[in-house]
Amino acid sequence: MSTALAGLDLACPVMVAAGCGGTGRELVPYLSLADLGAFVTRSITVTARPGNPGRRIVETPSGMINAIGFQNPGVDAFLADELPWLVEQGALVVVSVAGSSLGDYAEIARRVGRAPGVAAVEVNVSAPDAGGSGVFDVREPFHAAGAVSAVRRELPRDVPVLAKLRSDLVRVVESARTTLDAGAAAVVIGNALPAGMPDGRAGGLSGPAIRPLALRCVAEVVAHLPDAEVVGAGGVGSAQDARAFLGAGARAVQVGTALLHDPTTAARMILDLQGDQ
Ligand SMILES: Cc1cc2nc3c(=O)[nH]c(=O)nc-3n(C[C@H](O)[C@H](O)[C@H](O)COP(=O)(O)O)c2cc1C
Repeated sequence: MSTALAGLDLACPVMVAAGCGGTGRELVPYLSLADLGAFVTRSITVTARPGNPGRRIVETPSGMINAIGFQNPGVDAFLADELPWLVEQGALVVVSVAGSSLGDYAEIARRVGRAPGVAAVEVNVSAPDAGGSGVFDVREPFHAAGAVSAVRRELPRDVPVLAKLRSDLVRVVESARTTLDAGAAAVVIGNALPAGMPDGRAGGLSGPAIRPLALRCVAEVVAHLPDAEVVGAGGVGSAQDARAFLGAGARAVQVGTALLHDPTTAARMILDLQGDQ
């Protein structure tokens, strides 16, 4: 079941997606974090953010829309209170980072990169609600590459960068190419897709509705960039979904929204995939 990704040895190809496993503590009743391929934290920013006021999650007939607004305690509190606990659990910890500017990305990489137990940094360059939440608004592949290279420059060489892209068929191959050229060791495809909350605020659509879109984008990147290491994300909720992404050429998958419906999802997927061995 072990999988090589970005020079790391993952125990299995099932990762928890950014923002969908809370601090990790919420998942522990259902799963040993050490059994995961990796635990990706919610996106951490330089300073604490309270997140958006009002309704943050809405269920629709075609998936879930969230407008969390990057609620997180800021890098200092994360490094003091959350990271050591995750490392203690034996989790392979991937820290997701976001910022409002390239300077923010560089600063957070400087602080996170030297913390003990950080296996990799995932650069969120695909926030579906960037405009509304004030994080760096990545509209073009070169914006994504700029953020990745700002992070890469500040990290120790042995801490790989994963670039988290959007499942946007028009841009995804170019975004993958430019972020890999900028120093990412792998690309994660992809984030929630830009959508509107019922009150018109910006949000991100996730869940089974976006799975076929993410799958197509993964296949497209693998076809055009056969050497790229790709992680599939978007509506993964079963071993069957994981097999589809792995079959399309992904090395691993991330499970997000499905965990909000059923926090045992990742554990069940790992068991089912073990059955394939
Ligand atoms: C409630 C919620 C919070 C999320 N928070 C983050 C985040 O902090 N950083 C990030 O890169 N992606 C975040 N995402 C996106 C997920 O990591 C994932 O890429 C996306 O939802 C697609 O996968 P899914 O359909 O399995 O949820 C969030 C998604 C949800 C539903």
